[in-house]
Amino acid sequence: MTTLSTSNKTALITGASSGIGKALAHQFAHDGYQLVLAARGVAKMQALADELQRTYKVTVTVIAADLETHDGAAGLHADIKARGIVLSALVNNAGYGAFGEFKDSALMSELAMMQLNMNTVVVLTKLFLPDLLATRGKILNTASTAAFQPGPYMAVYYATKSFVLSFSEAIASELEDTGVTVTALCPGPTASGFQDKADLGNSALIKGKKLPTSEEVAELGYRAMQRGQRVYIPGFVNWAMAQSMRFTPRNLATKVVKILTRPIS
Ligand SMILES: NC(=O)c1ccc[n+]([C@@H]2O[C@H](COP(=O)([O-])OP(=O)(O)OC[C@H]3O[C@@H](n4cnc5c(N)ncnc54)[C@H](OP(=O)(O)O)[C@@H]3O)[C@@H](O)[C@H]2O)c1
Repeated sequence: MTTLSTSNKTALITGASSGIGKALAHQFAHDGYQLVLAARGVAKMQALADELQRTYKVTVTVIAADLETHDGAAGLHADIKARGIVLSALVNNAGYGAFGEFKDSALMSELAMMQLNMNTVVVLTKLFLPDLLATRGKILNTASTAAFQPGPYMAVYYATKSFVLSFSEAIASELEDTGVTVTALCPGPTASGFQDKADLGNSALIKGKKLPTSEEVAELGYRAMQRGQRVYIPGFVNWAMAQSMRFTPRNLATKVVKILTRPIS
């Protein structure tokens, strides 16, 4: 198997129109990867593509994709294949959360979030795996520190990220002799479009707190992916919290998250 030089490598990044995905696009382009950017915000991605092409002299393809629809992920795969692109990195990053009590949330919104945060990750991984096996490629899935315990006030979101972490670790193990690596990036609260989208303004989780930037998280996550690390949690406090959850009774862990996430005025 010949190894592709970085300049022949192409990465797909979902959720590249803002936040961590946008910052990851800079990391990949800096290393010479050609890029495919996918999200709904085409204007933002086109501006990013222009900047990356100018700065790093890489080819960037922008594809409009609504990945919380039933056919969104398969349509994106078909579009990329129709362009003759073979991936050597897949970044399943698009995702969002929603703050509030489960009894008050709209079922259709929760199901759409589950489609994006979980189903799309599985569909894209399944459909692009032949590419990644052929190129001995890399998968980077953006999970969260939410993956390590239940999350009152963001119940469905936390559960989706547990899914992403579990799925990533399991397939990393299955793929260990193939040359394909799988990394679950598990950031804690990070400054991005996430807080507004999730309506987190009144949550103790972020109110009055200084959050790491998307650029800081993306750089660390990118390096973890290059090392082939299976699970990477940026930041010592986040790492320590996640580790402590292993030894904390589940009830207590849930209570702690409830206090840390509670609505405050
Ligand atoms: N920020 C945090 O505190 C934090 C912490 C842990 C994990 N994460 C995870 O990090 C990932 C990136 O989020 P972020 O923090 O960078 O937030 P962000 O700035 O809001 O970015 C989210 C990205 O997902 C895309 N997206 C949302 N809905 C989509 C849809 N229906 N179809 C296609 N793309 C869609 C958005 O693009 P369009 O709106 O243009 O479609 C955007 O590019 C998510 O998986 C999130 O769960 C975030």
